[in-house]
Amino acid sequence: MARVGLLTGGGDCPGLNAVIRAAVRRGLIDREHTFVGFRNGWAGVLADEAEELTLAATIGILPRGGTILGTSRTNPFAEAGDGLEAIQETLARRSVDALVPIGGEDTLGVALRLHREGIPVVGVPKTIDNDLGGTDVTFGFQTAVQIVTDAIDRLHTTAESHNRVMVVEVMGRHAGWIATHAGIAGGADAILVPERPFDIEEVCAHLRSRTARGRTFSIVVVAEGATPMEGTLQTQDGGRTDAFGHPRLGGIGVTLEAEIEARTGYEARVTILGHVQRGGTPVAFDRVLGTRFGVAAIDAVSAGRFGTMVALRGTEIVGVDLEQALSAPKLLDPKLYETAELFFG
Ligand code: F6P
Repeated sequence: MARVGLLTGGGDCPGLNAVIRAAVRRGLIDREHTFVGFRNGWAGVLADEAEELTLAATIGILPRGGTILGTSRTNPFAEAGDGLEAIQETLARRSVDALVPIGGEDTLGVALRLHREGIPVVGVPKTIDNDLGGTDVTFGFQTAVQIVTDAIDRLHTTAESHNRVMVVEVMGRHAGWIATHAGIAGGADAILVPERPFDIEEVCAHLRSRTARGRTFSIVVVAEGATPMEGTLQTQDGGRTDAFGHPRLGGIGVTLEAEIEARTGYEARVTILGHVQRGGTPVAFDRVLGTRFGVAAIDAVSAGRFGTMVALRGTEIVGVDLEQALSAPKLLDPKLYETAELFFG
């Protein structure tokens, strides 16, 4: 029997509510744990803003997008004052025995620091970008891929009608998982990802070769974190960063739209899908994965396996060392990209 603190941090993600619901159900019914849910990520722990999470509080949330707890990109170690002390005080005041932060590299990075300070934590990996180490997949990713695939399907028909090049900008800060999966599923003619700086002339060559084969339209999918090969293309830098030092991305698609038109003479249009990719109801896969992660996280708390993160390996849910999971991002499998490349141009 333990008092468990839950929080969701970083960008929201379809499936977060499935994790919360499953954790509370597993803990309350099977283990007699009680739950306190902190509001808005680490901000709620710092400010001691929290609510009791009961079965009643988590009824009906499974298909809901977002997070009932709210989220933020607050970094407790970047705030004025002693973040660690404030967190320790809140946890003591609330008699919290263990923390289960649900988040990506930043939220879990804070969790790891707290673990090193002796606070019992079990992490749950979350990101639509699917770039977190230690786990084969994160929940939210499949939903995002489906949303982008649906968008590409729609853009196809208007591209064909107008004989245009459609540039589709998608999320993916460090890794091109969404761009490549949705690009393959949607039949993209070029996919640009952060892992491989692109050559704009090569992209234009793909488009010209399609024209030569009588295809008068094309789809180019670009991840927001994709960059041109050094010295080949000028891009804009917004200059804004979040509390963890990440630049606010978005806009590479606009540059591509103009460059493609200028270099090929083909009419181009950009669609930036943005936060649409993170919104709305999770697909079945993400609901199931979130549920399995929620149950496994509480089992890890019950067994005292702290400093770990739940993960999917193959078809099994396992516990992995949190430090190891965060040691490097999970970048795109080159073989997957090779498969996508087969259909370029
Ligand atoms: O969660 C990761 C991510 O989806 C990135 O792909 C993207 O750069 C970022 O979130 C956007 O976050 P925000 O909601 O803070 O604009």
